[in-house]
Amino acid sequence: MQVKTANFITSSAKVDQCPPPDKPEYAFIGRSNVGKSSLINMLTQRKNLAKTSATPGKTQLINHFLINDAWYLVDLPGYGWARVSKTERGKWDKMIKAYFAKRENLCLTFVLLDSRLPPQEIDIKFINGLGESGVPFGIIFTKGDKLSSNQLAKNIAAYQKALKRYWEVLPSIFASSSVKKMGREEILNYIDQINMQTR
Ligand code: GTP
Ligand code: MG
Repeated sequence: MQVKTANFITSSAKVDQCPPPDKPEYAFIGRSNVGKSSLINMLTQRKNLAKTSATPGKTQLINHFLINDAWYLVDLPGYGWARVSKTERGKWDKMIKAYFAKRENLCLTFVLLDSRLPPQEIDIKFINGLGESGVPFGIIFTKGDKLSSNQLAKNIAAYQKALKRYWEVLPSIFASSSVKKMGREEILNYIDQINMQTR
């Protein structure tokens, strides 16, 4: 699939403020600093479409980007950022839960995992929560440029094994690097397939 146009639409503090749910939507979530915003820029080939930062907690709102005037990419704020207050964490929880519960045009959520790390409890918990709520999701491993292809495969296999303890069937899994544009075609084609099914 070609990305011909990619436009920032709006940032919303609440799901009710999001654009009308009239187009297929794909969201990106994961730990703070895992590379969600960078991945959106890589997929759209727009350097500064989504704001990125070396310090966690950059993305605080629900950000909608309209692709090819046909579907939305959504950059969500990350979880697991140590330097937030309980109140802030509560707000995040509420916003994200409401988003998943109410966003009727949400076709799929991509959970991003740092490919350098062994399975993290916080990520497994988040994935299990999505699974239990019946939210369709896929998994994207990020920062694949930071390790050898051998180590990358090993780390992905370790996550698969960890998830197999809870789930019989695993979702689609992609390896990516925003630096090397790894995974771009695969992820866009996957979205395209779902777009065609929902038409
Ligand atoms: P929050 O909005 O704070 O939740 O973070 P985020 O998940 O949107 O992460 P962001 O895209 O801002 O990236 C965080 C840091 O990781 C930045 O310093 C990026 O340059 C770096 N980064 C992101 N993706 C990659 C990647 O594929 N490879 C490498 N080497 N660095 C990456
Ligand atoms: Mg971000």
